[in-house]
Amino acid sequence: MSAERSWGHRKGLIFGSGTEWSEQRKFAISAFKSLGFGTSRAEKEVLDEVIQLNKLLEKDVGVPISVNQKFHVAVINTLWHIVAGSRFEYDDPDLHTLIRMTGHVVRFRSLDSDSFMPNILFFMPWLTRLAPKLSGWDNFLASFVAIFPVLQRFIDEHKKSFDPNSPRDLIDIYLQKIANTDDKDSSFFGELGEKSLLIVLLDLFVAGGETASSNLTWGFLFLASYPEAQAKAHEEIDRVVGKSRLPSVADRPKMRYTEALINEVLRMVTIGAMSIFHSTTEKISNFHGYTLPKNCIVFGNLWEVHHDPGLWGDPENFRPERFLENPDASVYVFSTGKRVCPGESLARDELFLFTCGLLQRFKFELDPASRAPCLDPMRAAVLRSHDAKLILRPRY
Ligand code: HEM
Repeated sequence: MSAERSWGHRKGLIFGSGTEWSEQRKFAISAFKSLGFGTSRAEKEVLDEVIQLNKLLEKDVGVPISVNQKFHVAVINTLWHIVAGSRFEYDDPDLHTLIRMTGHVVRFRSLDSDSFMPNILFFMPWLTRLAPKLSGWDNFLASFVAIFPVLQRFIDEHKKSFDPNSPRDLIDIYLQKIANTDDKDSSFFGELGEKSLLIVLLDLFVAGGETASSNLTWGFLFLASYPEAQAKAHEEIDRVVGKSRLPSVADRPKMRYTEALINEVLRMVTIGAMSIFHSTTEKISNFHGYTLPKNCIVFGNLWEVHHDPGLWGDPENFRPERFLENPDASVYVFSTGKRVCPGESLARDELFLFTCGLLQRFKFELDPASRAPCLDPMRAAVLRSHDAKLILRPRY
């Protein structure tokens, strides 16, 4: 089913496989590095968005606001600067089409979903052909019909102003590679190369947007629900960063409580609880006493890793201090191994800078007129929070 989104072939980063996947992954990672991923350039892009977001939130102080999806545009913009050299305006209709449609895609098929249909499709994929409308399959495919023209426009615009000697962003670096590839078997060759680029853009939008932005939403819900933890983070931010400058990645080693807090939110929520589903490429004998046949579905149960009482003692409690008491404790929310998330360093910078940048300006409180937010996730491929309202108070 993961091939249906890309013309019957398993293309791109998330669902790609074999040589094509390793070729695309290696290239995307090296392109990101050459564009300053994990350096001061990425930091600057994030901080620009912190400033924009703070301005936007200032208009909302004192009234209950929904924090779901509040951070999506800011998070996408930091990535889009590096990918396409531009940012979206908060009310850009194309952006909202992309967010809505990629949201459908993320929620459509997941073993972990609360809804009956995605679950059953996982075990009976043939239902999509038997009952395409009823199974939601038609809608799933229609999402791509809406997504692709928007992403293709970015590629077309870049082609018009492309200078092969001076690539500006990820799209230009890809176009350069496509122009220089004459090996017909390469996933960068000609028209197919451009299709690979389109799917990579989709993958980055989905993987880099919903995950980090939902994690931020979760973070502020936990902070409002645990005001004593928020007070400790405020104290640390005031002491290390102060009020006259923005936080910086260089502050991280000095902000052990805030780091612990971010890790505890990552652990509690484990946003990609079941990781991404993969399959064995050959028979594996004696894997911890089991034989896995070829094409057997495998996935990392990251939720279990983060909620095992044997490892964490009291995994059900929100307790950032556990990371201070045990400096060796680490979270595996970005998975591990060959398919480990390539966006970890950007995501960690985003979580740190957005959390500190917003806490520097605001206090997040529960809305006394609404029910306390439910801190159990809605089940889907990316674990979102239920809709919840918070009140922001300016700190100075
Ligand atoms: C808090 C934020 C994030 C979390 C928790 C997260 C988590 C994950 C997880 C669990 C996987 C699956 C790994 C596996 O298959 O075992 C993954 C894959 C991936 N992530 Fe992230 N991610 C985050 C942010 C990002 C960002 C910002 C980007 C963009 C650069 C990104 C790009 C990707 C891609 C492209 C893959 C597929 C990699 C592959 O299969 O080769 N992620 N992520």
